[in-house]
Order: sequence, then structure tokens, then C-alpha cells
Amino acid sequence: MSSTLAPAPALRIGPIALDAPVVLAPMAGITNTAFRRLCREYGAGLYVSEMITTRALVERNATTMRLITHHESEKPRSIQLYGVDPATTEAAVRLLVEEDRADHIDLNFGCPVPKVTRKGGGAALPWKLGLFRDIVTRAARAAGDVPLTVKMRKGIDGDHLTYLDAGRIAEDAGVAAVALHARTAAEFYSGTADWEAIARLKQAVTSVPVLGNGDIWSADDAVRMMAETGCDGVVVGRGCLGRPWLFGDLARALGGPSAAAGDPVDATLGFVARAFRRHAELLVEFFDDEGRGCRDIRKHVAWYFKGYPVGGETRAMLATASSLAEIDEILATLDPSAPYPGQAAEGQRGRAGTPKRPALPDRWLESRDLDAAETTAIADAELDHSGG
Ligand SMILES: Cc1cc2nc3c(=O)[nH]c(=O)nc-3n(C[C@H](O)[C@H](O)[C@H](O)COP(=O)(O)O)c2cc1C
Repeated sequence: MSSTLAPAPALRIGPIALDAPVVLAPMAGITNTAFRRLCREYGAGLYVSEMITTRALVERNATTMRLITHHESEKPRSIQLYGVDPATTEAAVRLLVEEDRADHIDLNFGCPVPKVTRKGGGAALPWKLGLFRDIVTRAARAAGDVPLTVKMRKGIDGDHLTYLDAGRIAEDAGVAAVALHARTAAEFYSGTADWEAIARLKQAVTSVPVLGNGDIWSADDAVRMMAETGCDGVVVGRGCLGRPWLFGDLARALGGPSAAAGDPVDATLGFVARAFRRHAELLVEFFDDEGRGCRDIRKHVAWYFKGYPVGGETRAMLATASSLAEIDEILATLDPSAPYPGQAAEGQRGRAGTPKRPALPDRWLESRDLDAAETTAIADAELDHSGG
């Protein structure tokens, strides 16, 4: 074979060829341009924005317009939308495409938050097959050449699963890939993700890539998910909180030759402190406000330093620092040569929680068609909320 042939991409999402079959999961309050840039500096793949509500986008809400802005280094630009109304979702997609604001659009159908499912939104929505089909079909059509994907959960609870129907409907509607967080809304973030469901979705959806999501804490987990489920790529959320260099490990484990370059990270405390500092400075740039950036990095302190010899007092100081100079002073007190602590730094981080009976509109489960009262109720399901 000729050596001039370019290596096949590890994953193709419509026209987008990725060097590694890896996607940064959208996370509200986390995957802003600062965090996406940081993750991208270590790895390869697709880095999705925080969820943007379609109504706020169509109304050109100032915060929303700032959230959809990418840094020039971000290619491809990926935006996740959340909508409950077919016309508004279509309008939001059209805005992104006509104004050339995205190279990839993802639709979120996975939110388990009671405030949202109570109105029939989020993970409750795919239960209403016609509404789901309408939203995805109109969005995919409006997206044109920009690939549109769908991210969903398994369903409402174990007795009301939606993912296989939704996967097939999305495939028929012309999406470029489907992603499954292999939990029901009732499970919230509890227990372990059901990777067998990812394998079943892969059997059901045959013409576009199926991406698996849930409980990837290391590159080994990602390799195992792909081997066990046959999925075409992985979506990684909580596992990269406080460890954006996980995307380097993922690229080395799963990527093509160009993605797999670079040495494995030696995550000494000095290395972690530098990544934390870089994250803080990118947040300051994103907010264009030093105080705001330094406040926002506070929620990341426990994740970055999990398992490292950083005392409670130092952590508390980092969680109250209000300038980059102050952060530098505190980080300078750490021992940069302290080695990676192994298992103590690994494993679960971020949201967990216990199973909950999902809040739903009255009689929601009785029919898979939307009635008039539900149509009115669902319009309110698109309030600001905290994602999936
Ligand atoms: C803080 C946080 C915010 C999230 N926000 C969103 C969101 O905006 N959109 C979405 O589709 N999923 C959201 N999710 C769900 C993740 O994208 C992902 O599906 C979930 O965390 C499971 O993957 P993981 O086990 O790799 O974390 C969020 C998760 C967390 C922890």
C-alpha cells in the first residue's frame, strides 16, 4: 500500500474526521471555551460546549451568545442545544448554520433534573415519539451539511426505556451519530452505567456511529467500553474533571498515529498545579474578569488535587483566592516533585447521587403521543437548568 495514503480517521461524524474516537461530554458550568481549550491542548477528538437552550439562542440572550463563542483554536466548533419545541429548535439550528457559528450541533435529550422532566422535557421527552421525531427531523434538515447528533439516556426508568426507538428514529431523521448515557433518568448518576445497553443500541443503529457514555474514568475504561460494546467512540464527562490530560491518554489508547503522539503524562503535583493554573488563566480570559475566573476555578480545586498531598488549609485558600497572583503564591507552597499518588487520584469524581423516581407530568406514561395539555406544559420545560 502506498505510504502517501493518509491514515483513516478514527471516527467520522458526517464530514468531520476525528483523529481519536473521543468526545468531551457537554457539562453545564464546566465545558466552556476555557475547559475545552485546555482539554484540546492534551488530546484529540471533539469538544462539545455547555448546553445552550434553543429559546435563549433564538432570542439572542447576551450570556448565551457569549457561551456559543469559540476561541479561534477550536476546530471543529461543537455546540449542544436543548429544546422542547420543534419550531424553536429548528430556528436555533438555522441561526447557528446561517451565521456559521458551529461545525457540529448536538441535541440533548438526557437531562434528568426533576424541574425539567416534570414538564416533559429532558430525558422524559423521547417517550413522546412524535414530538421527538419532529424535533430531530426538523433540526437535522435545518442543519444541512453541518452534522447533527443526538445525546440521550436509556429512558425514564427500567420499565419505560426509550433509547432503541429514539436511536432508530434519529437515524431515520438523518443524524450523523447517536450517543447514549447508559442510565435512565430514574438512576440519575447512581450505580454503574449499563454498557450492555450501548451494545444493544449499536445493534439497532447500523448506518451512523454509536457513541458510548457513562463511567469512563481512565483510558483503560474507554478501551474496554469500545471492546465490550462495539461502539464507535466514547463520550467522557466526569472522568476528565480536574484531569484534562485524560484526553492525551485517550488519544494514545484509541487514536490514530497522529493523535497518539506525545509521551504519557507524569502527573506529579507540579504538573497538576501547572494545569490548574492554566485552567484558571483560561477562565479569566473567557470571563474577561479576573475575579470571576478565579471564583469559577474554585469548583475544580477538589478534582485537581484529589489524592495529592495538599492540606485542607491550602485547598481552602485556593477556594477563596480572587486573583491569579494569589493563586500563584499558594501553588508555590506545594512540593512540585510530589509523585502521582496512584489509586488515590483515580476513580469517581463529580456528580453521583441516589436513584429517584422521576418527576413527570400527570399521566405522561399513559400514551406515547402528546395531548393538548401536555403540549402547553412542555413549553415551560425549557428553563435554565443544569444539563444532563
Ligand atoms: C456537572 C455536569 C453537567 C452536565 N451537563 C450536561 C449538559 O449540559 N448536557 C448533557 O447532555 N449532559 C450533561 N451532563 C451529563 C454528561 O454529559 C454525561 O452524560 C454524564 O456525566 C455521564 O458521563 P460520565 O460518566 O463520563 O460523566 C452533565 C454532567 C455533569 C456531571
